[in-house]
Amino acid sequence: MTAESDHINVPGAPAPEPAAFDEPTQPHAPLPPKADQSGPDTVTPTGAETTTPQSAVAQQGERLTTAQGLPLRDTDHSLKAGRRGPVLLQDHHLREKITHFDHERIPERVVHARGAAAHGRFVANGEAERFTDAAFLKAGTVTDTFVRFSTVLGSRGSADTVRDTRGFATKFYTTEGVYDLVGNNIPVFFIQDAIKFPDIIHAGKPHPDREIPQAQSAHDTFWDFVSLHTEAQHHTIWNMSDRALPRSYRMMQGFGIHTFRLVKSTDGGGLTTSLVKFHWRPRLGTHGLTWEEAQLISGKDPDFHRRDLADAIEAGALPEWDFAIQVFPDTEDQLFHGIDLLDPTKIVPEELSPLIVVGTMTLEKNPSNYFAETEQVAFHPGHLVPGIDVTSDPLLQGRLFSYLDTQISRLGGPNFAQLPINRPHAEVNDMLRDGMHQTAVHSGVAPYHPNSLDGGCPFPAMVAGAQPGGDAFVDVPQPIGGEATGDVVTREQSASFDDHFSQARLFYRSLTPVEQLHVKQAYAFELGKVYEQAIKERQLQCLANIDEDLCAFVADELGLPAPAPTEEVPEVEPSPALRMITDDTWPADGRQIGIVVDDDTDAAALASAREAIHAAGATPLVIAPHGGMLGDVPVQRSFHTAASIELDAVIVLAPVADQRIVELLREAFRHDKAIGAASAADSVLQAAAIDAAAPGVVTGEPSAVTAGVLDLLPAHRVWQREQV
Ligand code: HEM
Repeated sequence: MTAESDHINVPGAPAPEPAAFDEPTQPHAPLPPKADQSGPDTVTPTGAETTTPQSAVAQQGERLTTAQGLPLRDTDHSLKAGRRGPVLLQDHHLREKITHFDHERIPERVVHARGAAAHGRFVANGEAERFTDAAFLKAGTVTDTFVRFSTVLGSRGSADTVRDTRGFATKFYTTEGVYDLVGNNIPVFFIQDAIKFPDIIHAGKPHPDREIPQAQSAHDTFWDFVSLHTEAQHHTIWNMSDRALPRSYRMMQGFGIHTFRLVKSTDGGGLTTSLVKFHWRPRLGTHGLTWEEAQLISGKDPDFHRRDLADAIEAGALPEWDFAIQVFPDTEDQLFHGIDLLDPTKIVPEELSPLIVVGTMTLEKNPSNYFAETEQVAFHPGHLVPGIDVTSDPLLQGRLFSYLDTQISRLGGPNFAQLPINRPHAEVNDMLRDGMHQTAVHSGVAPYHPNSLDGGCPFPAMVAGAQPGGDAFVDVPQPIGGEATGDVVTREQSASFDDHFSQARLFYRSLTPVEQLHVKQAYAFELGKVYEQAIKERQLQCLANIDEDLCAFVADELGLPAPAPTEEVPEVEPSPALRMITDDTWPADGRQIGIVVDDDTDAAALASAREAIHAAGATPLVIAPHGGMLGDVPVQRSFHTAASIELDAVIVLAPVADQRIVELLREAFRHDKAIGAASAADSVLQAAAIDAAAPGVVTGEPSAVTAGVLDLLPAHRVWQREQV
């Protein structure tokens, strides 16, 4: 047996076929993408379906050509005036090849530059139909989606596991046009008004003089801003929790953050509206990394999250999220239980407004080309469909301007909606014309309205409910505020936006003791990296207003006195729904379990451990003193390449004495991971100073050890190891 013919597929193969040792010489057509990959639907730039296979938009033919299709016999030597002479200007292939290469890079996103994406499908269950006309939310409707996850602060090549908010942007290719839900994994935002977005981002990005630190908030400018600008304190405390260190994109919640408006037409042309917040709930649960683990990963596998997503999909562990809504009456004051629904720094606790699940999304395929899909995708919170509208949330209002504006420069002109990944799967009949990279070939002579020359085409759409066949988007007629809310042009904001601490307190007080400890440690780390004492003191002042015990812990770590609160913050009713550590258990899909063996390990014990792990939906990784094969079994990691950080649990079947494995076990133990050791491998536990009786350590016969470890996985971590 070879590694390729092993029936347990370990994901990560770089190409659809194993590479030959010799450079291939037999011409053949380009290989298809891997089975786990797909590309954008092959609709035309104006949204018409085609029968064109995806392979038709990839490279064609057996032979190397220029961009003009001219067959070439040599791409390794430039055309020279003699063997040792200078290169000739007439070498078009040389100039074309190098010129194109010189222009391969496009500007990275100004925020959320680092990301990974996947294709999926959304199936609606119809629960939203009573609130909205949106066609993609009608029972049984299946809609293609493309989801891009991201970090916010880092540049395109930064590490995945930094402490940061994660983007969770979903493009729904609906029959009524593209709907984008451009959200994050944290349900609130740093600022209440988009005019401050450049400020918070300038503060979070690396310092402008030395351009350090990369992709981190643990530095002076970030804490300077959030401590001066206290509305940021709620988002910041979420960032100090393990929510900012997701174990996997597959194990993150998502939030639309702003309140949107759902619109439902009534017979006779009327409209009913409700206010709504959107949520994604992962079927695998919401789980984090530990801080030390996240830092180790940044060095050992900076691509950890994108690899995890791609590997899981390749292994058939397709990630799923329930899509849910919180619905509120669309009252004139837009308050719910006193919470201003237009303030994006506030949540509405689920205990006050339970989630209604309206459908489920499954990510099914990896992109086949990162640049064409993940990099060129362009989301916009203003890409709406009939039945969903925006509100006057001042953060959302600014976003409605920003995304289109930035994409014009990032994607090189106004026609980026025609890029394959951005094309609607609905008919497009706009009057937008020309511009850089125009790929539609419009017909007619009258791209203006009204006209008589093109027969009046395109015609305004009709209004649902009011006119037969109506499907037009209707901007909800909304009062803009009477005297009570101040009907004057002003730069002021509502007094209901002024409470900056009560929900930060709500979040902290809702957590379990272990989660609270992690928050305390995170503040101590981040502020410990701040140079200026005044900034540390100012942030401690904010913490005193959130929770005095939290403040005292951090002050102690910083060697500073704990200040007294300066604000009277109301007491809060904890919201258990905010906890990540619960008694719930979760599937082990796509998790990785290391099996440490040596050349003398019983082949049957190894085989049954692998089978049991595979049967549980997880991936077994065999870790041996050397690469290659161990009898019939392929080795995935040698002692040299194995790392605790890529394992959710580890099983030791052999009494190895290698210090790298001993260290691997120590790390796994510190990171609260399940550990199993067969009786024969007791010595390894001793060498790692791990008490065999400690929580989450299983010993005994190999099959019982594997079963015991698999029993521990559904709780994600062995939290009992963290004494609080
Ligand atoms: C609730 C607050 C916000 C959320 C949830 C949010 C979320 C996101 C996400 C997920 C992305 C990445 C999209 C992708 O994967 O391509 C993104 C990009 C971006 N965001 Fe935001 N954002 C927020 C606020 C803002 C504000 C207030 C502004 C500006 C006023 C802004 C400007 C941008 C820009 C310019 C990009 C890059 C877009 C691109 O190049 O395609 N965001 N945002």
